[in-house]
Amino acid sequence: MHYRVEPPDQNFTYKPATSECREFDPRSFRWAQTMRLAVEEINKSPNLLPNHTLGYKIYDSCATHVAAQRAVLGILNGPAETPNSVCSGASPVLAVVGDSGSSQSIVVSRTLQPFRIPMISYFSTCACLSNRKAFPTFFRVIPNDDYQVKAIAHLLRRFGWTWIGVVTEDDEYGRSAVQGLLKEIKNTGVCLAYQRMIPKVYSREKILEILDVMKRSTARVVISFAAEGELYPFLREYMDQNITGIQWIASEAWVTASVFTGSEFYPFLGGTIGFAVRQGQIPGLRNYLMSVDPLRYPNNPLVHELWGALYGCSLYPSDSMAQASSQLPPCSGHEPLQEKHSAYMNTSSPRISYTVYKAVYAIAHALHNLVSCEPGEGPFQNSTCADATNIHPWELQQYLQDVSFTISGEEIDFDENGDSIPSYDLINWQRGAAGKIEFVNVGLYDGAREAGKELFIQEDAIIWAGHQREVLVSVCSDSCAPGTRKAVRRGEPLCCFDCVPCDDGKISNERDSIDCSPCPEDYWSNQARTECIPKAVEYLTYDAMGLTLTVVAVVGACLTIVVLAVFLYHRNTPIVRVNNSELSFFILLSLTLCFLCALVFIGEPTPWSCMLRHTAFSITFSLCISCILGKTLVVLAAFTATRPGNNIMKWLGPKQQRVIISACTFVQVIICAVWLITAPPFPYKNTRYQRSRIILECSVGSDQAFWCVLGYIGLLAALCFVLAFLARKLPGNFNEAKYITFSMLIFCAVWLAFIPAYVSSPGKFTVAVEIFAILASSFGLLLCLFAPKCYIILLKPHKNTKQHLMGKK
Ligand code: TRP
Repeated sequence: MHYRVEPPDQNFTYKPATSECREFDPRSFRWAQTMRLAVEEINKSPNLLPNHTLGYKIYDSCATHVAAQRAVLGILNGPAETPNSVCSGASPVLAVVGDSGSSQSIVVSRTLQPFRIPMISYFSTCACLSNRKAFPTFFRVIPNDDYQVKAIAHLLRRFGWTWIGVVTEDDEYGRSAVQGLLKEIKNTGVCLAYQRMIPKVYSREKILEILDVMKRSTARVVISFAAEGELYPFLREYMDQNITGIQWIASEAWVTASVFTGSEFYPFLGGTIGFAVRQGQIPGLRNYLMSVDPLRYPNNPLVHELWGALYGCSLYPSDSMAQASSQLPPCSGHEPLQEKHSAYMNTSSPRISYTVYKAVYAIAHALHNLVSCEPGEGPFQNSTCADATNIHPWELQQYLQDVSFTISGEEIDFDENGDSIPSYDLINWQRGAAGKIEFVNVGLYDGAREAGKELFIQEDAIIWAGHQREVLVSVCSDSCAPGTRKAVRRGEPLCCFDCVPCDDGKISNERDSIDCSPCPEDYWSNQARTECIPKAVEYLTYDAMGLTLTVVAVVGACLTIVVLAVFLYHRNTPIVRVNNSELSFFILLSLTLCFLCALVFIGEPTPWSCMLRHTAFSITFSLCISCILGKTLVVLAAFTATRPGNNIMKWLGPKQQRVIISACTFVQVIICAVWLITAPPFPYKNTRYQRSRIILECSVGSDQAFWCVLGYIGLLAALCFVLAFLARKLPGNFNEAKYITFSMLIFCAVWLAFIPAYVSSPGKFTVAVEIFAILASSFGLLLCLFAPKCYIILLKPHKNTKQHLMGKK
């Protein structure tokens, strides 16, 4: 009935005083009254234990285990009851109702255990007490904390609170609740920012230390497993420090504690939410409590203390009891007990009072069952009954374990661990009349329901801390947007993380991804890294570069055709005729094809275009170089033939020339045929250069074949170059050999330069380089071979005579 104990001096130089109980708790006093009411009810009842009278003794454990220990030893050793018909020789005590706090209950239960005296607690919720091995005689009519932490974990998840602080009292209740909570939030993404214990013995420094942690932490939600005894001075200091913006989650121990209902608490504690033990109905409790009156019980010191606590006055200032409160003004004893003294008179929704009531009834029902045992149908060995005149506590224990009864519609029984069915009300602290805090029911938790559906919350009825309607946010790090992933910070809890953008080619499409997933082949991440989009396919198409090359190729082809036309038109002039006009036409035609085959390289590579590209190009070029080679041979032969006795010209007549050209070209055709049959070029999606885009190109199929084809052209060109070089000094004003040498030089230079450029240029530029080489070498040939002739034909017709060409005037 007190919530604090003054520890005596511990220096042992004189006989230590007994520790003194301080801070009268009207709430507990109400519970004690409820017990008396229940006992009186049962004693009056004609159905329950007729012909028997329950007796009781009330001890005050002062919310400390030391006092509880004293009390229980007092119970066991106290002056033996005078033997009478009921209590002959048996243990004076059959059962204990209590204790309130878990750490007290543990001590009491351990002490009672050797005597097999059952106890029923009305307020001890520590999960540790459900251990039947350690506490075989312990029962309770209040849910085990395992359910409460489950319900709180539900609450945290429901409101997205992932960053929480915990403040508990320093005992089994606090410790085991935190342990349970940690187990419950493990793997749910909720992290503990800090956990502190309020010291049992008041210490301002320690409290300030805890408050400092609370102030500095970013956790806005604080769960507290503690009772008024420790919490009251703590929260007083909390208010003095002017800390706001904290959403409290109260444990069942203080969520309906009326000490905090004063209007000065609202700005700091308003909005607090928590699970409270289900309320019940106790008819007649109000009137019973009203009957407590100092005039009626002038010698009861507890009633004096109650008056002192409720009215702030002292009944008998001279009273030794009231020494501590001797400064208080005197009171008359006529003060009316009203609803406003809710600390005592709160009877509208009895919760803990109701559990006390249930506990007494449980014992009464068990006793009733024991007394009304039919001989031969009892639960003991050989189906015997207990001797009703000499009841042993262990016999009562047996009946308690099996007891089952209903009070105001509620079924009560105990499971094998002595626990009862869990159910809670969700309580929200809202502002009521006169600015006082009112406990509003905003939901419930029913442990009997199927998993996942236990919690029901009336969310719109809740008013949060700071008189807010919106749920407050308590996270360590804001959630990561899609496109990023969580990166845990070293040495910090999992809830504290950085958001790092996904790498190229990886995406995350939901919030709070732990990982970015790579895009499938042919897909790539978008700019925001939230989606995989098909990779851009790149190839040389008719964009600026493609168009330019096309135009140049077409211009080249047209130019060649114009030259062809000019030659055809002037086919009878000496300059055309001098050097084998047929070959010239061939060269021009094949050059036209060379220009045109550049066009095959532009556009999307398809299996056909890939095969066509290299073969068309190599065959037209072979044809062209073969013709030039033929021409070189002719020039060489023609001049050597002028020497007497040499009729090499016979071997180089037009027919033979055609054969040579065809043969040279045919070799290339063969190479190409083999290439196409064994390893034809094919379109290939190249992702090596840029992982974000696909370069569609023609793979040559076989590198050897490709270089073979180029090599063959190179060979022809080199041969041509050597022969032309030999013939360059031969007489004649118009010695073509000179120009052929030149053209081959340019040709070879272009293609030699092409090789490194080709090998090293990425993507579509490879193709562009190849086209460029084709065009450049074609232009080289066209200009070197035909420009001088066209110049003479068109601009210097007077030089277009046989004499002039022969170098004779
Ligand atoms: N349910 C709490 C418990 O099991 C009640 C409680 C906590 C309590 N601290 C207390 C009761 C102090 C009385 C005194 O412990």
